[in-house]
Amino acid sequence: MRPADLWRHSAFRLALAVSIFVLATLMLASGVGYGLMKAQLSARQDARVTEIFAAIEQTSLQGDETDLIEAIAARIKASPDRATAYLLRDQTGRILASNIADFRPELGWSTVPAVRVDVPSEYAYRMFSGIAGGYSLTVGLNDADLDDLQEIVLGAFGWASVFALLAAIVVGSVLALRVQKRMTEAESAAARVAQGDLTARLPVTGRGDELDRISRAVNAALERLASLVEAMRQVSADIAHDLRTPLNRLRIQIEEAAQKTANGANPSDNLAAALAQGAVIDQTFAALLRIAQIEAGARREKFARLDLATLIGDIAEVYADVAIDAQMSLTCENSGPAWLMGDRELLTQAIANLIENAIRHCPPGTVIRCAVDADDRYVTASVSDNGPGIPDPERDKVLRRLYRLEKSRTTAGTGLGLALVKAVADLHDAKLTLADTAPGLRVDLQFVTAQNLA
Ligand SMILES: Nc1ncnc2c1ncn2[C@@H]1O[C@H](COP(=O)(O)OP(=O)(O)O)[C@@H](O)[C@H]1O
Ligand SMILES: [Mg+2]
Repeated sequence: MRPADLWRHSAFRLALAVSIFVLATLMLASGVGYGLMKAQLSARQDARVTEIFAAIEQTSLQGDETDLIEAIAARIKASPDRATAYLLRDQTGRILASNIADFRPELGWSTVPAVRVDVPSEYAYRMFSGIAGGYSLTVGLNDADLDDLQEIVLGAFGWASVFALLAAIVVGSVLALRVQKRMTEAESAAARVAQGDLTARLPVTGRGDELDRISRAVNAALERLASLVEAMRQVSADIAHDLRTPLNRLRIQIEEAAQKTANGANPSDNLAAALAQGAVIDQTFAALLRIAQIEAGARREKFARLDLATLIGDIAEVYADVAIDAQMSLTCENSGPAWLMGDRELLTQAIANLIENAIRHCPPGTVIRCAVDADDRYVTASVSDNGPGIPDPERDKVLRRLYRLEKSRTTAGTGLGLALVKAVADLHDAKLTLADTAPGLRVDLQFVTAQNLA
């Protein structure tokens, strides 16, 4: 990765921004610290000057002039490097004792560069001048400590800055490289998906960071997409396969009719059968389109609150006579109103399909029961019979479009009834289960109760 590339990485820029922020904070903190320490040292220096001044003043008050001069001479001797400066004059302005060049200091506090009083030092004196027992006295202390402090603070700050910047560049580069590696992997996975390879997945490190979470979400979406595409492929293959039979029947009838016409016979039987076959094909397509439309989910916008108990009661009433004609009985029970959010027309169609199936696929004498049960979480509707039932391995397959049990191939129907029930259940987020009631079949639809929907 070139330095210019590095700059394009948010991790690197972030590390750099953080270190600049740290530097600024460091600068502020050292500034404040330096200021505080300087004030403290200055106060101490001034206190020391005041102390020396007071001690000399004391001497001047207690002894005579000679004592005073001797005391100052002793102090001068004790400070050979002239870190402490002394200047004593009498009332006439004559210098009595001094270790610095003659100069006229202002009264009170002043800061005087050492060179001004002929002391070869780069530092300045902090001086106090005043009257001590009739004499004019100046005491000064060299600023060396303060200057050293400044150097130490600036030096420390400089090194800290260098280390902080180096650390930022190293950490930023490492982070950027790591992110870059994962991004490259993700990019190549995305490219494979774009080329139609739905088995490609984004890398997941297991660290659980945000990149992992995004990758997991994208992978889950890919998983779903792949299964949808596979299902779609399966469905179109099934449909193409299953529609060949009715189309073949149609062709055979037309061929026979043509033959009969050529032989001078009456083809009206075959034409009627061909018409019926055409109607079946038309119905099949209509049902397939309807299922596709339900699966598209647009009808969910028209959902309304409805009582499934009443709805199923009404449907059962309509089918009661049909059941009697087939020498069957149809009963209906419920535990009171069962509210849910749904599409009235589609739910009616689905329940009717289940009742029709029981009537169509069970022998005379069969007892068909509809039941609706509701509690504060779920509304469960079921249609059961004591007919032949559906063998376990077939129970998933009958939900597919156009799938019919072998023995049902001769009965009327398109094999789309349960596929529609499944589509309606999915649209309502309902759980559809087919159970064995030995003997017989029970189909359960479990919805979420209306009050519990957001
Ligand atoms: N109540 C039932 N008892 C026995 N078999 C059933 C029952 N309901 C459905 N089936 C079987 O499931 C198959 C699929 O049903 P369905 O999708 O409604 O198609 P169709 O009724 O048009 O055949 C039926 O062909 C039948 O074999
Ligand atoms: Mg059916």
